[in-house]
Amino acid sequence: MLTHPIPTRDLLEATPPRYLARGRIANADVRLVECGGHLWVVKDFSVCPVWVRHTVGRWFIRRELKALQRLQGIPGIAENPLRLDAFALAYLFIEGRALNEFPKGQPSADFFLALESAVKAMHARGIAHLDLRNRGNILVDASQQPFLIDFQSHVPLPRWFPPLARSLENIDLSGVYKAWGKSLPGTLDESRQHLLDSVNAWRKWWVLKGYLGMGRLAGRRRRR
Ligand SMILES: Nc1ncnc2c1ncn2[C@@H]1O[C@H](COP(=O)(O)OP(=O)(O)O)[C@@H](O)[C@H]1O
Ligand SMILES: [Mg+2]
Repeated sequence: MLTHPIPTRDLLEATPPRYLARGRIANADVRLVECGGHLWVVKDFSVCPVWVRHTVGRWFIRRELKALQRLQGIPGIAENPLRLDAFALAYLFIEGRALNEFPKGQPSADFFLALESAVKAMHARGIAHLDLRNRGNILVDASQQPFLIDFQSHVPLPRWFPPLARSLENIDLSGVYKAWGKSLPGTLDESRQHLLDSVNAWRKWWVLKGYLGMGRLAGRRRRR
């Protein structure tokens, strides 16, 4: 565990920015900062408009930090999460690339097995990520090991309601299997393919129902 020195707001302001991702209205700047001989990722909402920074900004920082702290020690989770201030958090950089930057055929099936284990270990600590269908949130490190990032939209698993907890876990696993099928077409076994298909079917139904619901609402408004 690193204690000193750690990134601070002053250091951030004094350092020329190296961006991993640029913020938009409700998205943080994600920057790379060197401190104490280590590279750190800093997620910073202070660049967002005041009303965003003080609402979702604060909220996202608090909840992402909470998830990272709860998941420490699991292989595949960035280390040393800490809060810079109400609007920014930092954790150690992972040398590697996001999964969406790899061409078809990469990474290997072993990578996806390790990714599945990391996701199951996260569930065992009581957290569902819910944004793993976005392959920008899965990193492949220099030794081809998976890392999960971006816990802004995580939820605690409702253990008191097992069917819902299972559905949330399946949403995460469907993200793993979707990426696996995209990278290595035709290599998913029957049970993983079945889970992916059932989550996809449920999503399709849910999205369609959403559109129909909106249509009905729009119709009702027009008739008024
Ligand atoms: N620990 C890390 N190591 C390497 N790259 C990272 C790390 N954390 C974030 N990144 C890069 O920054 C991008 C944005 O980070 P992320 O936490 O997903 O924020 P958001 O999607 O909310 O902008 C990622 O897709 C990845 O490319
Ligand atoms: Mg992201």
